[in-house]
Amino acid sequence: MSSPPLSPLLDPVTISEDLIPLAVFKAIGVAHVDFDGALSQPLQLREDVRSGCGGQTWPAGMLLGKHMLRYHRDRLKSARILELGAGGGLVGLAVALECELQNQMLVTDQNEMLELMHHNVKLNGLETKAQAMVLNWGEPLPTAVLEQKPDIILAGECVYFEPAFPLLMATLKTLLELNPAAVVYFCFKKRRRADMHFVKMAKKAFLVEEIFDEDRPVFQRQGLFLFSFASRTGQQKTGKTGHSNGATRLAINGDSRIQSVSC
Ligand SMILES: C[S@@+](CC[C@H](N)C(=O)[O-])C[C@H]1O[C@@H](n2cnc3c(N)ncnc32)[C@H](O)[C@@H]1O
Repeated sequence: MSSPPLSPLLDPVTISEDLIPLAVFKAIGVAHVDFDGALSQPLQLREDVRSGCGGQTWPAGMLLGKHMLRYHRDRLKSARILELGAGGGLVGLAVALECELQNQMLVTDQNEMLELMHHNVKLNGLETKAQAMVLNWGEPLPTAVLEQKPDIILAGECVYFEPAFPLLMATLKTLLELNPAAVVYFCFKKRRRADMHFVKMAKKAFLVEEIFDEDRPVFQRQGLFLFSFASRTGQQKTGKTGHSNGATRLAINGDSRIQSVSC
């Protein structure tokens, strides 16, 4: 099997399609992140972009972490959580730090990020709550993921490199086939027109919803998108619970979410 495309360095010269400036790299160091007070103690995160663009925190990861801690705390406790494209582990490790998890979560990325993920797990004393491992999109799922059958999948800032879109889609499809009741929490910042192609692909394959967040008006203006993806077959089992202001509300594993598929 050929190697997956490596995460690009987000070099504006090589990949910017419409001249929207991309993020500036941070210096190597340890960031202290508390998600605007959503964490009771800050997460310490070593940042080092020498291993790839995931070696620093990204806006969508910050938003997704805050959203999960604000709106899904109770559900996270008993969930089987998998993070994709974790970088240094921003989203997953924040959840692991704050929540009394009953199951060890899996924090995954490409091999280049493994050392940094391991480092950050240790730095926060999360060895019993989180395990770092390699999961390359588009490749067969690691045995640990097959056994885990994740029911919450976190993906922050994983839409930024068009050649990787089909690989990420393939992994999401496999995960939602493995557990049709799973929900993917998916957040990205639109930097290029092509980023919306990913949303189109997702809408063809999954039930895609823009989930409630009181900060939505603010982050939408910043080009940030926050969705949940679910399997259509998984949804048929849950059923509709009512209507509100013309928007259909669905009860999914205890969550009440507004069904909306426009972006
Ligand atoms: C922009 S970073 C986001 C990091 C972190 N989730 C955040 O929000 O701060 C995207 C991550 O996706 C990972 N990635 C890119 N292509 C991948 C692939 N084919 N398989 C697995 N991970 C991949 C990169 O290594 C990188 O860590």
